[in-house]
Amino acid sequence: MIHDPITHVCVIGRSIIGDVATRNPYSYGGPVSGPHFIGRDAEVADLVSRMVSGISVVVTAPRRYGKTSLIDRAAELVREDHGAVISVNLMHCPGLDTFASRLVSGAYATEGGRVRRARQSLPELLRRLRVQPALTLDDTGKPRFTFGGLAERDAIVVLDDVYAILSSLATQRPAVLILDEFQAVGELGGGLAPALKALGDQHPKVSLIVAGSRQHLMDALVLSRGAPLYNMAERLALGPIDERVMVRYLVDRARHGAKEMTEAAAGRICELAGPVPYDIQRLAYEVFDRAGDRIDSSDADDGMSGVIRREDPNFTDGFSRMSIRHRRVLVGIAVRRLVERPYTAEFAREAGYAGPPGVRRAIEALGADETLSERQGALVVADPFFAEWLRRL
Ligand SMILES: Nc1ncnc2c1ncn2[C@@H]1O[C@H](COP(=O)(O)OP(=O)(O)O)[C@@H](O)[C@H]1O
Ligand SMILES: [Mg+2]
Repeated sequence: MIHDPITHVCVIGRSIIGDVATRNPYSYGGPVSGPHFIGRDAEVADLVSRMVSGISVVVTAPRRYGKTSLIDRAAELVREDHGAVISVNLMHCPGLDTFASRLVSGAYATEGGRVRRARQSLPELLRRLRVQPALTLDDTGKPRFTFGGLAERDAIVVLDDVYAILSSLATQRPAVLILDEFQAVGELGGGLAPALKALGDQHPKVSLIVAGSRQHLMDALVLSRGAPLYNMAERLALGPIDERVMVRYLVDRARHGAKEMTEAAAGRICELAGPVPYDIQRLAYEVFDRAGDRIDSSDADDGMSGVIRREDPNFTDGFSRMSIRHRRVLVGIAVRRLVERPYTAEFAREAGYAGPPGVRRAIEALGADETLSERQGALVVADPFFAEWLRRL
């Protein structure tokens, strides 16, 4: 047999990737856009209208509710309307150097990064920066800005200058600074949040959009009295996507992938995995992969078992690192599904604590990393797959 590496690669390529019609039509992981972005009409409209009016907003929700997807969508609309938008994800900034260079790259893109104007705008941009970045050009001639070993006060000067650039643009068109994963700002530098407050006061036409999860950190930064950004931004607390919208989406996308999903199956997927959009898309993806041409409710249950099997090593790993008491609290909550009153003597006894104060400490610790979250005034295990895994122990 003659081994033809090219044919071999082609065959493998086709079998893994599949043709477009049978490619999995759901998407989970990072932010979604285009056909994978649904609902949120009112939130997009609210956010766009505030961005173009220079009003600052803090978007809060637990992880994976769709904050970044929503903000990206609103930013796209504002840019289409010639707005200047700089967007920096703080999780992608390991330190102040990256933070500062992302800000400057963003300013460059808004200043006229379009090819024809690039040469004129670059010297102009550099003139407006009091702390100069090192400048290199990549293969396409696009500039890269880097800072080396910035002290916090210098990073604040860069922030100051970029804010001032946005503010001068704001006289002509909407100007927006987006800081995503804002709960991480304190790790970058304790002076950044107070500096933003001062900048917001100084440049009222710029809309500052901050988004984040980890409610207690967002509270400490923005929402509670005495927080550095208290009263600076309107709050947009993102809830789940309307279930009817989600069901419609699941059915439509299945059809796009050349399979027929019943409404009951879509409803069952939402019931098992909801209400977090990421979890619904995650389960739908698995269900679609495993089912035949017609997807019904039993396929949804089958998909649930599939996700749990796939995640088993991660769940085992995470669970084994917890203390025995945290494990007992977690299993107790998973089994009860929604716990309205966790601070009873009976629940404490079951979890191995002398009384409710111990349970409170455990719940606070498990809530801080979002293993537990609050829904409709009750405590739940945030990840529905982990919750089911715990119930099956
Ligand atoms: N509007 C939406 N429509 C459909 N799916 C969504 C939507 N928003 C979020 N999702 C799902 O949630 C996942 C996480 O979205 P993302 O915007 O990154 O959330 P967050 O920023 O809140 O962590 C996406 O990969 C997608 O599966
Ligand atoms: Mg995000």
